[in-house]
Amino acid sequence: MKNITVIGSGTMGNGIAHTFAQNGYQVSLVDIKEDALQRALQTITNNLDRQIKKGTIDDAAKASTLANIKTYTALQEGAQHADLVVEAATENREIKLDLFKQLSSICPADTILASNTSSISITEIAAVTNRPDKVIGMHFMNPVPVMKLVEVIRGYATTDEVTKTIMQLSADLGKSPVEVNDYPGFVANRILMPMINEAIYSLFEGVAGVNEIDTVMKLGMAHPMGPLQLADFIGLDVCLAILNVLHKGFGNPKYAPCPLLVNMVTAGHLGIKAGKGFYKYTPGSKELVVADKFA
Ligand SMILES: NC(=O)c1ccc[n+]([C@@H]2O[C@H](COP(=O)([O-])OP(=O)(O)OC[C@H]3O[C@@H](n4cnc5c(N)ncnc54)[C@H](O)[C@@H]3O)[C@@H](O)[C@H]2O)c1
Repeated sequence: MKNITVIGSGTMGNGIAHTFAQNGYQVSLVDIKEDALQRALQTITNNLDRQIKKGTIDDAAKASTLANIKTYTALQEGAQHADLVVEAATENREIKLDLFKQLSSICPADTILASNTSSISITEIAAVTNRPDKVIGMHFMNPVPVMKLVEVIRGYATTDEVTKTIMQLSADLGKSPVEVNDYPGFVANRILMPMINEAIYSLFEGVAGVNEIDTVMKLGMAHPMGPLQLADFIGLDVCLAILNVLHKGFGNPKYAPCPLLVNMVTAGHLGIKAGKGFYKYTPGSKELVVADKFA
């Protein structure tokens, strides 16, 4: 495997492109928005500079990583020579199904098609392609260059051979892949999202404040950040979308999203990316300040 196409150059796409390129793969990074591609290249450059400062890479590695990445706004051009596609476009079912239908006709017959989706069924994505046996989930964690886990999700029709290839490839990237089956939320979000939802319910019901809830989980459970801060980091809209998938997929009321989360998303208080969520964020400041609403 040499040519990797990464689709979507947002938070996850730029990290996935960075990781493959740093490991010597030729990366075609595709986004419908040219400005998103430019922002991604800037983010990758900044992150490589941070790695140089830390002493984990040198200037030559930065140069070769950047040289390994080409950007495209046309899917056909960016995906036609792919050995592997890793789709990391917006978490929207229609967008993903449409992309995978197009990839079916654009990519060579043996190209493996992977999705970084957090919650959409790999089996459903595979079913719209002409190669369901070669469709798989490759769920990287944010920030991709730093986080070790890749949750490798087998769709109903994914073969052992394709799974083995992706497990090995993930290991070659220096990651620790874990194989799981395709059920709502897979493993990571099936466990994480109910915890975040319960933290939001605890706030909603007045059990404790934002700081108190996050402090209990940080100091009591040795989590590096509390669930409310983590929700802001992930994006409250993303958390809500995943909880809705769990709720619908299992038909169990225990996954129903907390009304406070629904309200915050409706109001556009989406977390870090909106500058406000459970905390408020000032550009350039690392201080964690509880949002006025919860202060
Ligand atoms: N953010 C996280 O912490 C996280 C973690 C794991 C997995 N994921 C998953 O990764 C995927 C991407 O999430 P993100 O947070 O990077 O989103 P994002 O909003 O930061 O970026 C998505 C990008 O996809 C682009 N896009 C939309 N439609 C497209 C299309 N048809 N073709 C090409 N590009 C298109 C958008 O222009 C945007 O730049 C989602 O499936 C999400 O569930 C996110």
